[in-house]
Amino acid sequence: MDMPNLPEEYDQLDQWKTLMLLYNAALQEVQTRVNVLNDEFHHINDYNPIEHVKARIKSPESIVKKLKRLGFEATIDNMYRELHDIAGIRIICSFTSDIYYLAAAIARQDDMQVEMVKDYIANPKPNGYRSYHMVVVVPIYLSSGRVQMRVEIQIRTIAMDFWASLEHKIHYKFEGAAPAHMQESLKECADMAALLDKQMLSLNESLQKAGEEKT
Ligand code: GTP
Ligand code: MG
Repeated sequence: MDMPNLPEEYDQLDQWKTLMLLYNAALQEVQTRVNVLNDEFHHINDYNPIEHVKARIKSPESIVKKLKRLGFEATIDNMYRELHDIAGIRIICSFTSDIYYLAAAIARQDDMQVEMVKDYIANPKPNGYRSYHMVVVVPIYLSSGRVQMRVEIQIRTIAMDFWASLEHKIHYKFEGAAPAHMQESLKECADMAALLDKQMLSLNESLQKAGEEKT
């Protein structure tokens, strides 16, 4: 993606501020679309597929760190061009089926492009990490015209989120080198969480079916 056309007289600080404003707008835009899908789903199925949504903008420190790790100079141009997770939204769902429902509904929006998908539910990471990741490109309108902005969307169940938060803390604490017994235990928990998701989904399906038969 090419840099948006920011006014030439803008200095670096102005450009940084404008880019942050754009990422913030992109987060709001995606959040609104996700809220609409949640409301519609509730209207049809009588339960909310979304438990909650978290949105965050990557800190300047993390942006610089990631650019360096990837071998790029820390410039505003590279930020926009090379990073896909400056604006991030995490959607926590009740059931695994809700994840795929939302992902498909997001992908169907034809003014938004899906640039990348990583399905760590179908293909969990070796450590047990499960989640559905998408990078979407959403149009944002400034007074001067349209700018395309990337937003990373992570969609996971409550169980996946519970696991990922603890794993993240352990990973951080041991700087990526947690003792083997902890890694094994985490993997076991991931498997249990996956089983929990499966059984909860099956119970919900039975519940939905029973509801249909009644009406
Ligand atoms: P990052 O450089 O970390 O953003 O990774 P990536 O660009 O290779 O993408 P990936 O889809 O693997 O991971 C993106 C994000 O997913 C991470 O920033 C985390 O928020 C989350 N994530 C990925 N793997 C793990 C994991 O093993 N444990 C936890 N807790 N979170 C993970
Ligand atoms: Mg990331």
